[in-house]
Amino acid sequence: MRQKLVAGNWKMHGSLDENQALLNELRIALADMRNMACAVCVPSPYLAQTQSVLADSPIGWGAQNMSEYAKGAYTGEVSASMLLDFGCHYVIIGHSERRALYGETDQVVAAKFAAAIKAGLTPILCVGETLAEREADMAESVIARQLDAVLAVSGMAGMAQAVIAYEPVWAIGTGKTASPAQAQAVHAFIRQKLAVQDADIAERLVIQYGGSVKAANAAELFSQPDIDGGLIGGASLVADEFVAICKAAQS
Ligand code: 13P
Repeated sequence: MRQKLVAGNWKMHGSLDENQALLNELRIALADMRNMACAVCVPSPYLAQTQSVLADSPIGWGAQNMSEYAKGAYTGEVSASMLLDFGCHYVIIGHSERRALYGETDQVVAAKFAAAIKAGLTPILCVGETLAEREADMAESVIARQLDAVLAVSGMAGMAQAVIAYEPVWAIGTGKTASPAQAQAVHAFIRQKLAVQDADIAERLVIQYGGSVKAANAAELFSQPDIDGGLIGGASLVADEFVAICKAAQS
């Protein structure tokens, strides 16, 4: 039985004051959650604050990006070991915003994924197609290409240490969610593709859905057989919404 994981991706939002209020609310409301895991991926400057508020809570935390390099002259970058210094468990890798806005290629994503695994972090690997790709009936081939790049470097042994997030680009921040059936079809495709290489690892792999998940649609999405929780953007900034989404993963 896979345990569902709900993770918040705060993106570039928050302040010390706002985070303190949000993290405190989550810590209290999610103190006794069972049979699921939840986490927040915060902007790196707030990792110390997040660690100090969540230290004794069952909520995990992580970052939204990291360097593929261990150390060196890489101005502005943050390494895996720096994330570990602040107790991170997770790091989002290959989010579509990083791919589209910061030029992260499949190869860069694969290198970051490998560096996260090597450091003992759990990468949340984001894959997903754009609207144009979906309309051209290319969703599966795009996702296969994104997965193959990571498999070429880290293999199924890497996947065994990771979480995958299927995030159709057209559903991110648009209010347009993939229907539960549409999302399920892609999740099943991902699992079957990986099962060809290793059925046990594919069966255990947590595959989250991301893209306009909110309290109102979470339960139906999470009831699909291959949807193991969600990666939540906008709704993760609102305590009541995020808590309700976590509770939907529990039931
Ligand atoms: P929204 O939930 O705001 O659509 O964002 C999804 C996302 O990109 C999570 O990584």
